[in-house]
Amino acid sequence: MTEVTNFSFNDLDLDVIATAEGRVAFLVSPDAKLSRAARRINKLTKGAVQRIVESEKFENAKEAEVITISWPTGMAAEAVDLIKLEKRPSVDNARKAGAALAKLGGGASSELLLIVAGMNKHAEDVVMGVALRGYDFTDHKTLKPGSPSKNVSVMGGDVEVLEAASKSALAVAQGVFMTRDLVNEPANVLTTTEFAERIEGLQNLGVEVEILDEEQLAEIGMGALLSVGQGSVYPSKVAIMQWSGGEDGEAPLALVGKGVVFDTGGISIKPSGGMEDMTMDMGGAGVVTGVMKSLALRKAEANVVGLVGLVENMPSGDAYRPGDIVTSLKGDTIEVITTDAEGRLVLCDVMWYAQNRFNPICMIDLATLTGAVIIGLGHENAGVFSNNDELCNCFLKAAKAEGEGAWRMPLGAGYADAMKSKNADWKNAGGRAAGSCTAAEFLHQFVQEDMPWIHIDIAGVAELKTPSMLAPSGATGWGVMALDRMIRDMFEG
Ligand code: BES
Ligand code: MN
Ligand code: ZN
Repeated sequence: MTEVTNFSFNDLDLDVIATAEGRVAFLVSPDAKLSRAARRINKLTKGAVQRIVESEKFENAKEAEVITISWPTGMAAEAVDLIKLEKRPSVDNARKAGAALAKLGGGASSELLLIVAGMNKHAEDVVMGVALRGYDFTDHKTLKPGSPSKNVSVMGGDVEVLEAASKSALAVAQGVFMTRDLVNEPANVLTTTEFAERIEGLQNLGVEVEILDEEQLAEIGMGALLSVGQGSVYPSKVAIMQWSGGEDGEAPLALVGKGVVFDTGGISIKPSGGMEDMTMDMGGAGVVTGVMKSLALRKAEANVVGLVGLVENMPSGDAYRPGDIVTSLKGDTIEVITTDAEGRLVLCDVMWYAQNRFNPICMIDLATLTGAVIIGLGHENAGVFSNNDELCNCFLKAAKAEGEGAWRMPLGAGYADAMKSKNADWKNAGGRAAGSCTAAEFLHQFVQEDMPWIHIDIAGVAELKTPSMLAPSGATGWGVMALDRMIRDMFEG
């Protein structure tokens, strides 16, 4: 991540408005009632604001639409942005307004004065929108494109309340950015080793980190995970992150992520067209890591462990083959039908380990697991599978509140039947029908009795080819906000 927006929070100061450079933005509700700040800008611009809110343009403006006055007389700013916001905007709506501003970019030296006075309650959401849409992944550009707003001064009523609420939102944004960076990073940069090192960086924030190497994984017995990585020159690893902000001794929530830093398909090699997108096949591990960062930054009062399996799926003389039978940590044997169904082999071992070691109150795994989920749900929704209605509804509610699409899909014994093998206990692929459900049912076999569990297939939502409301094209960071909210609801409410 190259560009990080700096936010500062200030009391409403009517004198600053006249002299601020760059952009000056303020919010107006549909009834066109102007705040003190807006009235000040109106006066400085000799009535321009009043003329706008009385115009048809304002009346017809969609909510969260920006109307710009360029190079206004009477002010030092390059532009004044008036944003029409609903009277009681949803979180999504207020973020959309912020995102619209971020897209406009900063003016002179990328300065933005964002006046939220009169809309204090929604300020953190507007700020979140500015932050999230201000992200750009420019690490590998020698010529950095024009930067979005670099310095945003947020001006409003009760500055302490404003700052506290916004800081916690921005902590989550930092987690989203970590996920996006990891997902956007190419596989020659984000090797398993590099990924583990970035995770170790979270120690500075108070996260306890352990990295298990291949020798340790073999000792533990993660035969399924190790088989996937054996064709790569980069060593397989499992990273364990613990955030213990909750009660001493209280069982944690376990988050498990698929971290395939590149998925060629292995010996069952993928077609070359589009294979470059498989740099995002560590998206599940990316989300888990981003959530851990958010929790640490906002000092969450919750116990959460994050475990990620980091491997590279490559063809080579050392690679695992179709027909191989591997032994999982659980002890179940698995026949490899295709080396391209590698994610479930990684997850089944890490999930089993997470349960044995931490005895969590519940477990959520995230993975870019199947192409089939994209056929079923497109890029609108992640596929959600669960053995527990209450837990599942808790997640779906949080996802909805954060505007992150999630749709529940079925498990069922019939899908498990498709995963039975003739010579081993299981096989790793169950044919074309219901590919996401059979994959989920495979994972279900590695969930211990009575363990509330959610599997989230994020293959369709981790990365987008087009810009979305809150992100440029590329990694979205989908799931960080929903999981952070769910953790707040479950442990901190
Ligand atoms: N990483 C892929 C799934 C994927 C596809 C993620 C497209 C993102 C975009 C996964 O490892 C895979 O190859 N799955 C196979 C499973 C099949 C061989 C049973 C698939 O979905 O085709
Ligand atoms: Mn694959
Ligand atoms: Zn994969």
